[in-house]
Amino acid sequence: MLKKIKVTQLCKGMYINDLNCGWLDHPFTLNRFKVDNETAIRRIIAAGVKVVEIDTEKGDDVFIEELKTQQVPFENVLSAALSKKITAQQELGRARVAYAEAGQFITEMMANVKMGQHVELEKVTPVINKMSVSILRNPNALLGLSRIRLMDKYTFEHSVGFSVLMMVFAKSMGLSLTVIKQVGMGGLLHDIGKTLTPSHILNKPGKLTEQEFVVMKKHVVGSRIILEKSQGFSKIAMEIVAQHHEKFDGKGYPLGLKGEQISLYGQMAAIVDVYDALTADRCYHKGSEPSEVLRLMLKWRGSHFNPELVNKFIQSVGIYPVGSLVLLSNDYLAKVVEIDGNMLKPQVELILNSKKRCYVPRKIINLSDHPDIKILTIESHAKWNVQQ
Ligand SMILES: [Fe+2]
Repeated sequence: MLKKIKVTQLCKGMYINDLNCGWLDHPFTLNRFKVDNETAIRRIIAAGVKVVEIDTEKGDDVFIEELKTQQVPFENVLSAALSKKITAQQELGRARVAYAEAGQFITEMMANVKMGQHVELEKVTPVINKMSVSILRNPNALLGLSRIRLMDKYTFEHSVGFSVLMMVFAKSMGLSLTVIKQVGMGGLLHDIGKTLTPSHILNKPGKLTEQEFVVMKKHVVGSRIILEKSQGFSKIAMEIVAQHHEKFDGKGYPLGLKGEQISLYGQMAAIVDVYDALTADRCYHKGSEPSEVLRLMLKWRGSHFNPELVNKFIQSVGIYPVGSLVLLSNDYLAKVVEIDGNMLKPQVELILNSKKRCYVPRKIINLSDHPDIKILTIESHAKWNVQQ
């Protein structure tokens, strides 16, 4: 059966019968194909496609209900979100909508700010509301999505990823919903000052010269001034914007604040900024595996970061963060899809048999239910040629 669906409802396993746009307007060689990875979905969204036609006889059908949250008050959505346990897989469709809307918002906002417009608080609020509800339902869906980057969209993807990580971090620290939303807002807008940075510096492949770095550093003050002009942003959001490049040992910028001179939210932002920047793919280099970045961050405790907060951050993203590739003791290579309680025993999706080097049918298993299966190593996506 042919069915028209919103692009944000697309899932792995669906068969696209029509992309509803000209062949030259999308990045694929064919108009009809089976969606076999998240990156394909993200590329369709990035091409500006809004509605696609799927063939439910050749692929999966829509498994999420049409979003009904738009007209419902936020408080009602929230209490519904907290009333039942939802898996990352069930949350994925809604998380993708929230993620896509946040990406669209920040892209448009950056273009508007470049033209001299202010950031409007009332436009950010619904975007953050939707992301925070998704994180309260199940943080792993948005966390997983924020690991998949389109390399040519670094600045806005970093902003959305940063916002997600800040909210997940705040949630795991037991902070209130009001604070979770404020850190999300600060996170989404923390680099808005980069709209004032010349693009040859912003997108330079490789190390910046000393002079270029001086210019780059100005984005922090730029972000603060833009938000001050916009009015209405909370103290917490402003602290994130103003302090996300400060370091615990006083060697950061722009003010060289030290230790407790940096607010709690500024200290959290410094951790998230480095984690997100080092794990992200850029057009000129591959991002490092999350576990490798966490290892480095443990080394930088006390110099770059507040040591206690680094430990709490690791608890929030997990020792095997969502999206990590792991080799299991039963020879299967698998991807972490959910952390539910035991950080050492996440839920994983089997991908291939490493001995036979062959793909296996898609299956999710909870390692907590399989005490005989252990995680042996964390593997690189590049080594196994597996997409994020
Ligand atoms: Fe920044």
